[in-house]
Amino acid sequence: PHPNTLLNLHEFAHHATRLLSPKARAYYTSAADDLFSKDFNHTVYTRILLRPRIFRDCTICTTSTTLLSNPVSLPLYISPAALARLAHPSGEAGIAAACAKYGIAQVISHNASMRVEDIVAGHEDGVFGYQIYIQQDRKKSEELLTRVNALRQIKFLVLTLDAPVPGKREDDERQSNLGGSGVAAPSGVQLAKGTVDVSKTSANPETGPGAGTGRALFWGTASDLTWKTTLPWLARHTDLPIILKGIQTHEDAYLAALHAPLVKGIVLSNHGGRALDTAPPAVHTLLEIRKFCPEVFERVEVWVDGGIRRGTDVVKALCLGARGVGIGRAALFGLAVGGMEGVERVVEILKAEIETAMRLLGVERVEDLGPRYVNTRVVERE
Ligand code: FNR
Repeated sequence: PHPNTLLNLHEFAHHATRLLSPKARAYYTSAADDLFSKDFNHTVYTRILLRPRIFRDCTICTTSTTLLSNPVSLPLYISPAALARLAHPSGEAGIAAACAKYGIAQVISHNASMRVEDIVAGHEDGVFGYQIYIQQDRKKSEELLTRVNALRQIKFLVLTLDAPVPGKREDDERQSNLGGSGVAAPSGVQLAKGTVDVSKTSANPETGPGAGTGRALFWGTASDLTWKTTLPWLARHTDLPIILKGIQTHEDAYLAALHAPLVKGIVLSNHGGRALDTAPPAVHTLLEIRKFCPEVFERVEVWVDGGIRRGTDVVKALCLGARGVGIGRAALFGLAVGGMEGVERVVEILKAEIETAMRLLGVERVEDLGPRYVNTRVVERE
């Protein structure tokens, strides 16, 4: 279907899953174990009620804001997600073009299927982040940081910490057992970190069941990162603002805030449910931080991702203190349905839904959204 005929993100997910190859579909949609966290990421938003105020002038509605002082037209951004070219040949560059049209931020994955230089090319005014997985071989990471530091369009670095080892994604593993290469990548898909050892990913009588695309991508990733050693090392190799992604407890949010101003922000995320199943959705972590250490919101920017399907989901996260709200799979699904235009349509739909929600709530500006506009009683009992 033409992307402009689709009305919501559910329709994009439906059509995208039919258009993707079985391996790409398994890689994109899979999540850890029993998919509890993946599903809960979304359903938790349906348990938060909005508290609309009436009799207010809602002629004006302003969604523009800043992310780490960078002006953006929406608090919505694209979360880092690997291998966009499995969805469409335009890949991460297609997503970048859609973001440029709407003036929103894109976080480029370490496992992007194109060179970072080629993704940001031509978008001089773009707001990009670069997500890094630190490698066992630190020299490789240092070389990558040198490249990223040199790109003016990259405004911040996102260090993902919730997946020092990959989660157990059975759909992804199952696909690699069906024969062929375990990596879903068609020929020509280039990873920043080079080639992947395909032999270990497919079912093989010697090595046992296939590991799947997710596990293949993780080879070489360091699992020895710590607050004490990694942050000083990172600070020696970049001047970019640092964001820590994958915070899932108020204790770690507090620790991250203690590392301000070196750490400028945190992303509350359970990796789209792809790492530890039954880990909490970002909403729960937001509520924990509000309760136990609200000063975190003053010291670092708090962003969230996971399960965003509707403008009301975005608005609820903002009410609870998020400054930025990321979408992962939704952008890939947009790309699968219509390349750059598909991503544009996904953003257009969310923008319109956010504006409608704000108007019906009686709020003119995103900075005026706050806890008084949500009822979280049900979620707080969980
Ligand atoms: C991811 N995610 C991810 N995160 C990250 O820090 N680096 C990465 O390379 C990837 N790769 C990746 C691939 C795919 C296919 C998915 C679906 C996700 C996690 C991503 O940034 C984000 O946390 C979740 O996708 C958010 O959940 P939703 O929006 O997909 O529900």
